[in-house]
Amino acid sequence: AGDIPAATLDSSHSAFTATASRDDGNLESDDYRYNDDYEDYDVATPPKCGTTWVKALSFATMARAAYPPSAGDHPLLRLNPHDCVPSMEGLFGAGREAQLEVLPSPRLMHTHMHHALLPPSLAHNPDCKIVYVCREPKDMMVSLWHFTKALVSTGGRTYPFSDALEWTCEGKSPYGPFWDHLLGYWRASKATPERVLFLKYEEMLADQVGTIRELARFLGVPFTAAEEAAGLPLDIVKLCSIDTMRSLDANKTGKSGQFFKFPNESFFRKGVVGDWVNHMTPEMARDVDAIVEEKLRGSGLTFTS
Ligand code: A3P
Repeated sequence: AGDIPAATLDSSHSAFTATASRDDGNLESDDYRYNDDYEDYDVATPPKCGTTWVKALSFATMARAAYPPSAGDHPLLRLNPHDCVPSMEGLFGAGREAQLEVLPSPRLMHTHMHHALLPPSLAHNPDCKIVYVCREPKDMMVSLWHFTKALVSTGGRTYPFSDALEWTCEGKSPYGPFWDHLLGYWRASKATPERVLFLKYEEMLADQVGTIRELARFLGVPFTAAEEAAGLPLDIVKLCSIDTMRSLDANKTGKSGQFFKFPNESFFRKGVVGDWVNHMTPEMARDVDAIVEEKLRGSGLTFTS
């Protein structure tokens, strides 16, 4: 990802900088120093909830002046979306912070981190916006199980789906208990809706053009009447569709990822709602639904299977 394309409509300023690291190479919150000259937009997701898709949609939306979605040389036609929108965890502490420095503002990046673990310069900065994407938990669990199997070729272990389900329901997930992840961003979106947009994968799939309009409005770059008349929202939806994405060489070959290297093709599996019915018994599904109901009770956040 040495050549992350600039996803920006104006290049006046950009977002936050990490300037120091601890002896162990990891950054602490104090290491993040807010820089007034920067403005950041962050895509935040639990793994397997549509990260790759929303990276592509956000990038295509913000970069549309420089790269019209119908252009034959669009970066998304030659680069995996993970190479267009860098992941914070993959940059900080890895000595690659300079890649962010060269991005013009507003910079677009991604994290899987829990809201409570975001640096204050991002979580509480009025110049930073967060697009959060989540997914019906049973589908998320199925997707994650398939995805981790992609690591077997690089030395990972394979394990039964029932084990994966049990661990996830005990709160053992890559970025912490999924319900905490959901609630952290859900509450932030309720407290500061102008800064945190809370999206659900199922609703995005059901209304893709509506989603891209909402995303553009939230990111401060609503479609103009001329862009609407030219069909730009639909062009972006088509460019970022799973069928287009999986047909591209950049997504059929190569590997991406911050800690592990996943085959690019493993980011594009089925892309549907309700695949859990092919993996869970009715009892398993009832157990997960009961946990979700219990953990989210009173929050106002619900999912439809
Ligand atoms: P499935 O495994 O259920 O098919 P992430 O990008 O967070 O890793 O999420 C991966 C999930 O999003 C996978 O779900 C994948 O197929 C789906 N996905 C990837 N690209 C997509 C796209 N352009 N449109 C819709 N879904 C997409």
